[in-house]
Amino acid sequence: MPEPLSNNLPGTRDLLPGETERWRLVEECARRIFERHGYREIRTPVIEPTELFARGIGGDTDIVGKEMYTFRDQSGRSVTLRPEATASVVRAYIQGAMYRGGGLDRLYYLGPMFRHEKKQKGRWRQFYQIGAEAIGSEHPAVDAEIMEMALGILDELGIGAKLLVNSIGCRKCRPAYMDLLRGELGRGMDGFCDDCRRRAETNPLRVFDCKVEGCQGGIALLPVIIDHVCPECAAHFAEVRRRLEGAGIPYSIVPRLVRGLDYYVRTAFEIVSGELGAQNALMGGGRYDGLSEVLGGPPAPAIGFAMGLDRLVMTLPEKATEEARWEPDLFLAHMGEAALDRAGEIARRLRARGMSCIVDFDGGSLKSRMRLANRMGARHVLIVGEEELASRRYRVKRLADGAQWEASLEELEQGLNPVAGT
Ligand code: HAM
Repeated sequence: MPEPLSNNLPGTRDLLPGETERWRLVEECARRIFERHGYREIRTPVIEPTELFARGIGGDTDIVGKEMYTFRDQSGRSVTLRPEATASVVRAYIQGAMYRGGGLDRLYYLGPMFRHEKKQKGRWRQFYQIGAEAIGSEHPAVDAEIMEMALGILDELGIGAKLLVNSIGCRKCRPAYMDLLRGELGRGMDGFCDDCRRRAETNPLRVFDCKVEGCQGGIALLPVIIDHVCPECAAHFAEVRRRLEGAGIPYSIVPRLVRGLDYYVRTAFEIVSGELGAQNALMGGGRYDGLSEVLGGPPAPAIGFAMGLDRLVMTLPEKATEEARWEPDLFLAHMGEAALDRAGEIARRLRARGMSCIVDFDGGSLKSRMRLANRMGARHVLIVGEEELASRRYRVKRLADGAQWEASLEELEQGLNPVAGT
């Protein structure tokens, strides 16, 4: 006997009905807010040449070094399931020559990403991001608008969160700071974990990302990049802050905030929730002014962010969950095959009026049909029995309060409300 194939891969999951409505609520909210800001949807492949991520995200990052799902396809080419979408969006921007239009391109996307990470609450190997990218301007107003938009989504969903920002310098000022940091780390790393020792060699900024308790004392003594940025970066950041304040957006500067991808320059930010524990980042983003050139495109300063849909759904308040509940308008119960035909006809007519109708095919006692309708969350039950077949008037029961009335099909088409005098 072959083994039953009833288990999915670790770190992946099925989203069953009941859960998918909550996901849709978040997705639709994000789309609404993006579109209100003039962002348009872009869809890129989930599979890309490995080189795109190796170059775009950076070979020394955890994502590229340890977490990518990479394999050779039938033609021998190395391909990777996308661990994030920014590199793909910039590739598409270059390939589609979107820069020819001039000005700022405002794009958003939504879909699954893949990272082979250690399993932990709030962390998945197939997870979902909704992200936005504004490509074609280095104006600090874009940075502020992007952050305002990200917070706007959380606000509309009723999720409380904090905005953390930092300025992490540019290609001009970062090398001198990196030398300084390497010098400090080179003086001794007593008490630091093995990962930090390795990062100190390969990608010293990553040391700030370490969550190991024992490393925190040492990390607190290291120089921070925000104190060493060039005047242009400092002025850019001051302007971003001024605009955030002007828009009444609270934020905290976190000088040790670094991001896990190498393309970032200047503004880096995260939005965290107090409710998620260690994996508390709901969203992350920042500026990536040089990425287009790294991928062979023209200069195209840009900023964007992505939010973890899985984590947003986890933090969705109860009220939003109630709103997302799936409640079909009508469950049509029938008594006998002829009544089933009529029920089908009624459902067809009411669906054309935009009502959601479930026709019960199984039949059975009225009591068992009522139980099923309740379990499905239906708002009303329509009963089609022999009497109703003959009279062409149908009994409707509203499940919330048990109210009952009779109505003809024409009356039902006007809405599922009690008909006066029945
Ligand atoms: P990121 O910080 O790697 O940035 O991911 C953004 C968000 O995706 C995180 O804040 C988190 O909510 C979610 N996320 C990441 N990994 C996982 C996981 N394993 N399980 C569940 N959720 C996860 C980026 O991906 C950048 N591309 C963001 C960006 C867009 N920067 C500029 N434009």
